[in-house]
This record gives sequence, C-alpha cells and structure tokens, in this order.
Amino acid sequence: MRAPASDLPLVLEDVSLQAGATVILDCLNLTIVPGAPTLIVGPNGAGKTSLLRLCMGLDAPSAGRVTWGGRADRAMTRRAILFQRPVMLRRTAAANVDYALAQAGCPRHERADRVAALLDRVGLSGLAQRPARRLSGGEQQRLALARALARDPEILLLDEPTANLDPAATRGVEEIVLSAVQSGIKIVMASHDLGQVRRLAGDVIFLVRGALCERACTADFLDHPTTPEAAAFLRGDLVI
Ligand SMILES: Nc1ncnc2c1ncn2[C@@H]1O[C@H](COP(=O)(O)OP(=O)(O)OP(=O)(O)O)[C@@H](O)[C@H]1O
Ligand SMILES: [Mg+2]
Repeated sequence: MRAPASDLPLVLEDVSLQAGATVILDCLNLTIVPGAPTLIVGPNGAGKTSLLRLCMGLDAPSAGRVTWGGRADRAMTRRAILFQRPVMLRRTAAANVDYALAQAGCPRHERADRVAALLDRVGLSGLAQRPARRLSGGEQQRLALARALARDPEILLLDEPTANLDPAATRGVEEIVLSAVQSGIKIVMASHDLGQVRRLAGDVIFLVRGALCERACTADFLDHPTTPEAAAFLRGDLVI
C-alpha cells in the first residue's frame, strides 16, 4: 500500500494577503518542517490568525504560493485547526467528538470506541455525557482538541488555545499538545504567552504588522533577539 502523501514541509513563498487596500500579510517566506512545535508570536493584529488560516488552506493568498509537501492542493485531509473561540455543538461532549469523527469519514461501527479513546486522551472521560456548552472554558478547549485530533492530523494548527485559561487549565491543554507532539503531530500555534513559548516551542515566527520580523530557534529568539521589535516585545514594551 502506498503511504499517504505528507503535508510537510509546509512552504510559503512570497505570500501576501490583502483585504481591499489593507495588507494583512506582507510577502512572507517560511518553511515549516516536522519536529518540535513552531510558535507564532506577535502583537494583536500582527496577522497570526490570518497566517494560521493560510496554513490550513482556508484562505488563499492574494499573491505568492502555499504548498503542502510540494503540492498546492488545498484539500485538508491531513490538517486540523483549532480556533481561538471554538463553537461547541448543542450536544453532549461525546456527541461533539462523534460528529467530528463522522465528518472525518470514520465508519459508524468504529466511532464509539474512538470517541472513548479521544475523550480519554484529553482527560474528559468522566464528562462524556455533559452538554458541551456546560463545560468550563478549559474543558471546552480540551474537547475542541479531541475534535481536532479526530481528524488524525499530521499538522495541528492552534490559535491561542490557552488565551482565556488559568494556569491549571493551561497546563491541561499544554499536556495534550505535548502528547500530540510525542505521537508525531506537527504543532503550529499562535500564542501571546512567552512562558508558553519557552515551554513548548522548538522555533518561533515573530510577526509585526503582517511582516515576518524574526524567525529563530526558541533559545535564540528569547535570549538573543536580532531586531529592535523583538527585543521590545520580549521586554514587555508595547509593540504596535
Ligand atoms: N477579512 C478581513 N478584512 C480586513 N481586515 C482584516 C480581515 N481579516 C483580518 N484583518 C485585519 O488583519 C490584521 C491581522 O489580523 P489577525 O486576526 O490575523 O491578527 P492576530 O495577530 O491574530 O491578532 P490577535 O492577537 O488580536 O488575535 C488585523 O488588523 C485585522 O483587523
Ligand atoms: Mg488572532
């Protein structure tokens, strides 16, 4: 049997994104390879969410080219994305995962076992029958991760998944992210949290006003930033 084609490397060549006269992303050149998580950081409005949407193939660039494993086909068979504010179906936690599995083409007779395994993977087995919208913010993020993992992705794109969570809930989400890394999934994640960058990232993409300001391994970015913008951001100055 032929191995399924890989979506990696994910390559952006001279990619720009515009909405009318507004330049959202400006001529980005990036290669994302397998391995430790790549974190996208930058001030509000820098273009992090827009970049994740391009990486998922949800939006097409206005100029330039995005390719997955050398292919420009935007079919999303091997990718999943978690939005900053995931919307839960008005059903139980288990039914939300079941729906995601059905969408991913999982046969009905396999679904009950896979729902149980996915809820276990995100630590929600005890809440399977709880209406999803009654879960806490942290539990909803973990459920959203279970739904994303239901797609069996090679690349998992996460948009600030811990932005509104307290430290305990953040740790719960980070543990799931790390277990996904262990199982070989490439994580590309937007974050505002420099502690999280230090804990999770292998490398960092730093965006300012839609432009790639710095791309470096985590230690270099945090300890030896090469641009004044990155140095200011790391000091906690307001970079606008
Ligand atoms: N469809 C659109 N039309 C016009 N402007 C847009 C559109 N989508 C995004 N923008 C603008 O592009 C810029 C980047 O937005 P984006 O949401 O990607 O930033 P971000 O880095 O994710 O910000 P945040 O940290 O607040 O989540 C913002 O100024 C936003 O208003
Ligand atoms: Mg955003």
